[in-house]
Amino acid sequence: MKIISDIGELRDQLRGQNRASFVPTMGNLHEGHLSLMRLARQHGDPVVASIFVNRLQFGPNEDFDSYPRTMQADIEKLEKEGVYVLFAPTEKDLYPQPQEYRVEPPNQLGNILEGEFRPGFFQGVCTVVLKLFSCVQPKVAVFGKKDYQQLMIIRQMAKQFALPVDIVPAETIRAEDGLALSSRNTYLSIDERREAPELQKLLQQVREQVIGLKQQSPEELKKIEAGALETLTKRGWRPDYIAIRLQSDLATPSNTALDAKESLVILTAAKLGKTRLIDNLEI
Ligand code: PAF
Repeated sequence: MKIISDIGELRDQLRGQNRASFVPTMGNLHEGHLSLMRLARQHGDPVVASIFVNRLQFGPNEDFDSYPRTMQADIEKLEKEGVYVLFAPTEKDLYPQPQEYRVEPPNQLGNILEGEFRPGFFQGVCTVVLKLFSCVQPKVAVFGKKDYQQLMIIRQMAKQFALPVDIVPAETIRAEDGLALSSRNTYLSIDERREAPELQKLLQQVREQVIGLKQQSPEELKKIEAGALETLTKRGWRPDYIAIRLQSDLATPSNTALDAKESLVILTAAKLGKTRLIDNLEI
């Protein structure tokens, strides 16, 4: 595997490759990331991965400095997966000047849910992903469904800018007890790790409640959301949101959408101790 930090060198290495399949990451790779590499292999060749902890997508009080950085172990994992190039730029490589041109996702998608609780997050994500796409010029890029809203926003960005890249979604990989794999799980204490799978269990209960409704209405969905928030809070979590939304655009479902049986998804973000976890479940 070639490890490249310089944009020019990356372009030289990838010249003539027009079927490259790309997996952008922030490192601290786990089985979830490795499943993205395997999916990428099914969709193109060669597989290119990136590791870059992107300052632009972290808020001032978030974990940019403490975000786990495990480059050597990551390199070994990627080598085993047969990744052809690891693009691992420094901040100077990717942002040689302050990044003043930014991509701003539309309010109705970028400022709800994660965007409401992490202002600027999706602007930072879109900006770096567009830049990484411009460096790697992949035919295909793979993003996990654990970051459901991120996947949707990147898909829309690719569509609206007519980027020549297919965005491929990958299913969430979970531990045996149901906890979605995440680099931030390493922050959990032993007791918190024991409690953490309750988030996914709660989403499953919410799904059962929604499916069990005789007549779905926005009011009934609101009641279910409120009940779930209360359950989490009672267990000692500090939830940011539990929201039942339309899969198509993450909008709050209207009566018309519910009558038309449009597909729904439940999304959540909640803090357990110092760790903020996100998860989702399609209905
Ligand atoms: O999902 C992530 O790890 C990051 O948001 C991404 C897509 C690599 C951009 O920094």
